[in-house]
Amino acid sequence: MKNALYLFRWPLLCLLAVLAACELSNEKPSEMDAPVLPENVYNYSNVDIPPFMAGDFSNGGMVVDNGQLINLDFAPSGNSFELANITDAGATLGRVLFYDRQLSINNAVACGSCHRQEFAFADGKKGSEGFGSKVTPRNSMGIVNVAMNNNLFWDSRIASLRQMVTKPVQNHIEMGMESMEVLSEKLAKADYYPPLFEAAFGTPQVTEGRIALALTQFLSSMITANSKFDHGQENNFAAFSELEKMGQGLFFSERAQCSSCHSGPNFSAPDAPGGPYGGSDVRGTANIGLDLVYQDNGKGDGQFKIPSLRNIALTAPYMHDGRFNTLEEVVEHYNSGIQAHHNLDPKFIGPDGNPRRLGLNVMEKSALVAFLKTLTDEQLVQDVRFSDPFR
Ligand code: HEC
Ligand code: HEC
Repeated sequence: MKNALYLFRWPLLCLLAVLAACELSNEKPSEMDAPVLPENVYNYSNVDIPPFMAGDFSNGGMVVDNGQLINLDFAPSGNSFELANITDAGATLGRVLFYDRQLSINNAVACGSCHRQEFAFADGKKGSEGFGSKVTPRNSMGIVNVAMNNNLFWDSRIASLRQMVTKPVQNHIEMGMESMEVLSEKLAKADYYPPLFEAAFGTPQVTEGRIALALTQFLSSMITANSKFDHGQENNFAAFSELEKMGQGLFFSERAQCSSCHSGPNFSAPDAPGGPYGGSDVRGTANIGLDLVYQDNGKGDGQFKIPSLRNIALTAPYMHDGRFNTLEEVVEHYNSGIQAHHNLDPKFIGPDGNPRRLGLNVMEKSALVAFLKTLTDEQLVQDVRFSDPFR
């Protein structure tokens, strides 16, 4: 019986192999793979930016003009500014690119595989699996108001979103494409791309610059500013529980000092004058004493990007290497776990020269966690404009 099955199996496998080879040589994705898009494009161009945030976009090389977010990124040609407004057609193309597995060499992963909407665009894993099942050494980052941000990646190595967006495509762990030219040729063969490029840029040509622009437009339109904390601004936090208020008090206190690093409307690196776009340079990093000896030194000497804490309850696990599974563990680190690294941020060093211990009691620790949970934007994770069109 077993033998008969074996005999039967081989021709079947051969047939499957031949079919698979046809698929490959054809190189066109099947009809099933085409994205499902709305009849009328969604609105991305008129971004809803609360007044308390509008000023901070200059950090990421953007300005807000009449509800429109305008990119001041330098044109590839050199010193002239190229205005790159978000357009509905441009961001629609960006959405398709973001979720298209064809951007990886073996059609296995899309940007959206490691940046998933339900996790506020992180992925819930310690390291993320790339195209060849290898795992990235760093934890995937939630995509939070990246248009306001000139401090990209855990080691803050890139300032401009537009320079950044195509890096994962060629990354040997993440997506593994040989070159952006190869990718452009590959995408031009899919039936659905030429019309999308034409709608976005006037002609159907697929180029690296256009791919980068469309992805930038899509990512820039992801504004998150709709949390319980944001709504609290209007009514003096009337909806906050006593525990959340206590946590808020601690977060902004001299004692815990959280807000001295996680500051401003984005709860990220504080402003310092003299940035590249005439705004302020927020490329802040710090060493928070995770280890005495770091395996990954980040920007150098254990310094890592001071990340935004918006949507933090959705983006576990935490830190550049995903070492902490819960916010409770993170708070316990700041409370009692800071290591005496030689480059430890001075904010954590006490008068006796040793790392400070906050001495938070059980109630205070849960209060801090409760406050961090008020930074979640439920609307972002449900917004159909940012959802996967291939599902
Ligand atoms: C295999 C998983 C994986 C894929 C695929 C992937 N990313 Fe990432 N992404 C990561 C990881 C991990 C980091 C942090 C890397 C680091 O700091 O070195 C990151 C960081 C980022 C950041 C920086 C966020 C910040 O606040 O600093 C952005 C933006 C981003 N990715 C966008 C994209 C885009 C666009 C694509 C598709 C072209 C993409 N990613 C594909 C895993 C992935
Ligand atoms: C000296 C600056 C500094 C201070 C003060 C500080 N942080 Fe951080 N925080 C950082 C840096 C830098 C990281 C990322 C470190 C890493 O991954 O290696 C971080 C990471 C975090 C994370 C995880 C973020 C993620 O996406 O994984 C949370 C949560 C957090 N901090 C909360 C707090 C709280 C609560 C306080 C106050 C008790 C605080 N921080 C005080 C600089 C600071």
